[in-house]
Amino acid sequence: MPSELETTLTDAVIARLSPDADPRFRQIMQSLIRHLHGFVREVELTEEEWFEAIKFLTATGQKCDDKRQEFILMSDVLGVSMLVDAINHRSSEGTTETTVLGPFFVHGAPEIENGGDMAAGWDGEPTYVSGRVLSAAGKPLAGALLDLWQSNSEGSYDVQLADTGGRQLRAKLRTDAEGRFRLRTILPTSYPVPTDGPMGLVLERMGRHPMRPAHLHFMVSAPGYETVVTHLFVKGDPYLESDVVFGVKDSLIVDFKRNESQAEAQKLGLKAPFYRASYDFVLRPAGKAKQKAAHAASDAA
Ligand code: BEZ
Ligand code: FE
Repeated sequence: MPSELETTLTDAVIARLSPDADPRFRQIMQSLIRHLHGFVREVELTEEEWFEAIKFLTATGQKCDDKRQEFILMSDVLGVSMLVDAINHRSSEGTTETTVLGPFFVHGAPEIENGGDMAAGWDGEPTYVSGRVLSAAGKPLAGALLDLWQSNSEGSYDVQLADTGGRQLRAKLRTDAEGRFRLRTILPTSYPVPTDGPMGLVLERMGRHPMRPAHLHFMVSAPGYETVVTHLFVKGDPYLESDVVFGVKDSLIVDFKRNESQAEAQKLGLKAPFYRASYDFVLRPAGKAKQKAAHAASDAA
């Protein structure tokens, strides 16, 4: 038989919320309390499990620093990030689809010229990526900013490696007068999300692999347009169907075509064999709230 407290506690906690609290905050807290209590009731949480949860959340916080964001990883692995993405970008209407920001974005990527190399000095398969940034009406957006980041050929981001000497495998570049961009890099590979923290243990206990399919990260912005946070995924990657963070959308899968021609490689400043991909980013006009949200998300990272 449930005690009286067991049945009345949820309403009692909600009743303590001040009527003067910000209305949106009130709405979120009411719902959070109801769902949290509902979850505890549904699974009949034991005291040992409650303490495990406290230890898990503590360890998650302790794993975070200026280079590691275990809470974003938790949100990603549990599908929360992609659910928030889906709710906030319900119809793309021909514009570029969004996907997770992930925990490895950092501000301050070096600026490179259009056509520059974002992977100078890194081993990997030479790759050329080009395309345009357009408005939904098809107008080329000159001076649009592309902020890119990727892992090395072993699947690690610079922030995961010791002594990389500053920002690596990251770049910012602007489109030319015709809205075109081009860059040289190395072919991204599939890689595991970090498993040396609490989320690694959770993945293991859930019987899930930690892999993300190969991708390049992009944040594309232009004044007056919504900032797009997205990836380009490499067609044919074995993890496209089972991305650990549920981030793959068909429209973001791109053919990175292998090319053996030394002459063509030379024209692009590369060595053969190389891979070539092209993609046009299509931005929608900005609602103010959305631009603020994209900046808040990147600041959190
Ligand atoms: C990433 O693609 O960098 C990433 C996204 C989500 C979790 C971990 C890594
Ligand atoms: Fe990534």
